[in-house]
Amino acid sequence: MIAPSLLAADFARLGAEAEAVQDADWLHVDVMDYHYVPNLTIGLPVVESLRRATSLPLDCHLMIDDPDRWAVSYAEAGATNVTFHVEAAADAVATARAVRAAGSMAGLAVDRDTPVEPYLDLLTEFDTLLVMTIKAGFGGQRFLPEMLEKVRTARRHMNAGHLRLFLEVDGGIADDTIAEAAEAGADVFVAGTAVFGADNPAAAVAALRARAHTVMA
Ligand code: DX5
Ligand code: ZN
Repeated sequence: MIAPSLLAADFARLGAEAEAVQDADWLHVDVMDYHYVPNLTIGLPVVESLRRATSLPLDCHLMIDDPDRWAVSYAEAGATNVTFHVEAAADAVATARAVRAAGSMAGLAVDRDTPVEPYLDLLTEFDTLLVMTIKAGFGGQRFLPEMLEKVRTARRHMNAGHLRLFLEVDGGIADDTIAEAAEAGADVFVAGTAVFGADNPAAAVAALRARAHTVMA
């Protein structure tokens, strides 16, 4: 699945930008709070408005402190998936259960400097694992191929345990990096700059999907 990230879109025209990628699978919404990451983006009121403005499933990526307090509100706002960072959560399992009880999928994110192994046993409580392929906080950074070792580790664990999760990669995903991420075992690809920085975002989504399929087929 391809999940264009609105972080690279025109924030004054979010509805139209969502419309431009309506053939995508999910719409990735980066929520940043100036604290967990040193950047500030959008919050709950914008997600509530987006829910009314597009029929695309909303993939909310919370890069915020205290997700235990806030994650459920994003589920209640109509997110299809609410991902929060394991580094920021006080009780990741309780928060995942609350998100699921509110009707959303729950996602666990691991940032660049966080290993994945200590959290593999939590994955039965989640629907999505998001492996950052950059340091969370800003779009337009260079893809870090060494992060794919975490993707491979998680994919092996999921296969061995017959876990049915989405394995999502986020950061620097573009035509020249998506194939190696797919090969490593990712199946959801977030792309900001590669989609909204393109002249034709819809064509960029189609090209990314085709490129990923060449290795996943
Ligand atoms: C950054 C965000 C990403 C960002 C990726 O912390 O989580 O979703 O939009 O941007 P690109 O695709 O430009 O690396
Ligand atoms: Zn993101």
